[in-house]
Amino acid sequence: MKIKGLWIPVVSACFTAACLAGSSLKTAAAEKNIDELISKMTLEEKAGQLVQHQYQDKKEFLTGIRHGLIGSFLNLPPDPETADRLQKIAVEESRLGIPLLFGFDVIHGFKTIFPVPLAESSSWDLDLAERDARAAAREAAACGIRWTFAPMVDIARDPRWGRIAEGSGEDPFLGSALARARVRGFQGSELSDPSSVAACAKHYAAYGWAEGGRDYNTVDVSERTLREAVLPPFKAAVDAGAATLMSSFNEISGVPSTVHAFLLTRILRQEWGFEGFVVSDWNAVGELLNHGVAGTESQAGTMALAAGVDMDMFSGIYQAHVAREVREGRLEEGLVDEAVRRVLRVKYALGLFDHPYTDRTLARSVMSKPHMDQALEAAQKSIVLLKNRDGILPLETEGQCIAVAGPLADNRMDLLGCWSGRGSEKDVVSLLEGIKNKLPASSRVEYAKGCDITGTSADGIQEAVDKASKADVIIAVLGESADMSGEASSRSDLGLPGVQQKLLEALSATGKPLVLILVNGRPLALSWAAEHVPAIVESWQLGTRHGAAVADVLFGDVNPSGKLTASFPRTTGQVPVYYNHKNTGRPPLEGVKFTSKYMDCPSSPLFPFGYGLSYTRFRYDSLKIEPAQAGPGGTVKAYAVVTNSGTGAGDEIVQLYIRDRVASVTRPVKELRGFARITLRPGESKTVTFTLGPDELGMWNRRMQWVVEPGDFQVWIGPNSAEGLEGSFQTVE
Ligand code: NOJ
Repeated sequence: MKIKGLWIPVVSACFTAACLAGSSLKTAAAEKNIDELISKMTLEEKAGQLVQHQYQDKKEFLTGIRHGLIGSFLNLPPDPETADRLQKIAVEESRLGIPLLFGFDVIHGFKTIFPVPLAESSSWDLDLAERDARAAAREAAACGIRWTFAPMVDIARDPRWGRIAEGSGEDPFLGSALARARVRGFQGSELSDPSSVAACAKHYAAYGWAEGGRDYNTVDVSERTLREAVLPPFKAAVDAGAATLMSSFNEISGVPSTVHAFLLTRILRQEWGFEGFVVSDWNAVGELLNHGVAGTESQAGTMALAAGVDMDMFSGIYQAHVAREVREGRLEEGLVDEAVRRVLRVKYALGLFDHPYTDRTLARSVMSKPHMDQALEAAQKSIVLLKNRDGILPLETEGQCIAVAGPLADNRMDLLGCWSGRGSEKDVVSLLEGIKNKLPASSRVEYAKGCDITGTSADGIQEAVDKASKADVIIAVLGESADMSGEASSRSDLGLPGVQQKLLEALSATGKPLVLILVNGRPLALSWAAEHVPAIVESWQLGTRHGAAVADVLFGDVNPSGKLTASFPRTTGQVPVYYNHKNTGRPPLEGVKFTSKYMDCPSSPLFPFGYGLSYTRFRYDSLKIEPAQAGPGGTVKAYAVVTNSGTGAGDEIVQLYIRDRVASVTRPVKELRGFARITLRPGESKTVTFTLGPDELGMWNRRMQWVVEPGDFQVWIGPNSAEGLEGSFQTVE
C-alpha cells in the first residue's frame, strides 16, 4: 500500500537531464550581434521581424522587404529562384540587411511524400521518423525553405477530428518519442547546415481536445490533463531543440491559446527554458476578436505579443499596430525587443546571416533514389494488418484472377493524404498499379470502381459484383479522400463514406475470399467489416509509394509490422475511446447495470491501441522484474523473452505498460512506458529489456509536482495495450 502524502520530488532530476538533450539556440557571438542590431532598429523595423506574410508576387511586398518591414513569408512557389530573389533584396537592399525566413507546411514530405504522420507513427520506428523528416527537410531546403510548420505533436483521442491524421495518435509517451525524432530529423545535427530546417512544434496547446472533435471548437481542459496528456510532446520537442512553436487556434477554458500567458510564458519559457520563438497560427491574432477577448485589432496584437506570441502569421496586425501601441504607451518596447531577439536568434542559428541563399547542390536530393526507397520503406512499415482469418493473406501470385474494386483502387491523389507539400499525384503508385506490377502473365486483374468515395449513386456496384463473382479473390480498396482528414475536416460519422459500405456488403455476398484495403487518415468505425470480411489491411495514406508498399504486403514480399497508435471505435458514438483512460468509481462490467458503459456497445474498442498482426506469430514468455522494490530515484528493469514461433521472419513491436495502483490522484488503467521494434527470424528469441526510472514512474501530484509515490505498480509486456504478460513491483521510500 502506498502511504498517502508521501512523495519523492524528482522534478529537477528528470527535467534537467532532459533539458541537456537539445543544444542551446544561443551563442554569445550571435546574442551580441542581435543586441547591436536591436539597438539600431526603428520600431517599424522591429515590428517587421515579427510579421509573416502569405507570399504573393506583389510589388508592395518587395518595397516592404526593402524597408525592413517584413521578416518572413510562407508558401513561396517551390523554386530556389524566388527565395533567393527576395532574400537578395532583404540582405543587400534593406538598411540592416536582416535575412528573411521562409516557412512552409512540410508535414510528411516535400516532393517525395512519406506516409501521413498518423500512419508513420504506426511504424513505432523512431529512426525512420527521423530519416523521413531529414529527407523532407533536404528537399524543402533545396527550394529555400528553412522553416517547417511541423511536427504536429497534438495528442488526439477523438478520431472525428480530422487533424488526427497529422499527429502520432492518442499516447503522450509515444507522441513524445516521435516529437523528438522528427525535430532531430528536421533540424539535423546542426541547424546551420543548409539542409536543415527549423522545426515548429504545433499546435500549442490542446488543439486536439476540441469539443465533439469539431475543428477549431472550444476546449475546456484541466491543468492536470494538460500536464499529463497534452504537454509532454511539446516539452519533448523543446528538449530536442525545436527552434519554434505555433500557438493553437482554440481557447482553453476561456483563454485563447494566442493570449495564454500561462502556457506561452510561464510554462514554455520559465519552466521549460524555451529560447526560440512562437508564431501564431494563421490569422489567429485577428481571430481574437471573434473569440471576444479583444475589441480592436490593436488590442488583439498587444495582448498576443504580451502573452508570448512573437510572430504574427498572416493577420497583418503586428505590422499595422505594434509601433503605434508602443509609442502610445500601451505596449512595452522591452516586450517587442524580446520577441525580435527570439526571431533573430533563430535566423542566426539557421546560419542565414552568413549563408542567406539556397544551397543549389541540394536539388540533387529531390525525389532521388534514396528518398524514394525510403518512402517505400516508410510505407511498408506503416501498414497495419487488422484481420487475417485463416491466413488468407498473403495472396498467391500465380494463376490468379483478382478482382480489384473500390473508388480508391485506381486513384493516386488521395494516397498523398492531407498536407502533401509539393507532392504530385503523377509520382504516386496507385493500388491497382502496385497489384498489377506484382503479377506474372499467368494472372489477371479485373478492375471495377464500384462507386465514388462520397455520393449516393450505387449504379457501379453491379459491375463490380459481376467481376468479383468470376474472380478467385476480391480486393476492395475503400476509405476516405485526402481532404476528409487534416484541417477543417471533422466528420460526425466514422463509417465508410458514401455508398462504399453497400459496395463492401455486395462484394462480400459473392462468397469469394475478400480482402479489404483501407485508405484513410483516421480510425474508422468498421464493426461490420471486422465481423464479415476475412482480411483487413489498414494502409492509411502512404504517399508516393503507397501502391507498391501495399502490394508488397498483399503478396508476402513484406511481412506487415505496424501497430495502431489510435484506438479504433466500434461505433462513432463510442468516441472518445482510448486505452489510457481512468478506471472511474464504477469501471465497466459487461451485463452489470450502474457501471460506466454504454447499453448498446461493449466497452472495449474494436481494435485497441498498439494492435496489429503479422504473417508470423510471436510468443511472449519469462517476464522478469528486478528489483522487486525500487528506492527513491531508483530504477526497475523489466524483461521478457519474445520468440518468433511462426514460419516467416518478422518485426514485432514489443510494448511495456504500467499501472500505478493507488496514488494521491487517479491514474490511468494503463500507460505506455516503453517499446521496442525487434526483428526475429523463425524460431529466434530475443530478450527485450526496459528500464523504468523516475521519468517513467512519476506523476503530477495534487500540488502539480512531478513525483514518484511509494506503492504498488503493475507491469505488462505484450503485443498491444489489451494483452501481455503481467507482473508487479513496488516503489518504496
Ligand atoms: C493553419 C494550420 O492550422 C497550421 O497547422 C498551418 O501550419 C498553417 N495554417 C499554415 O499553413
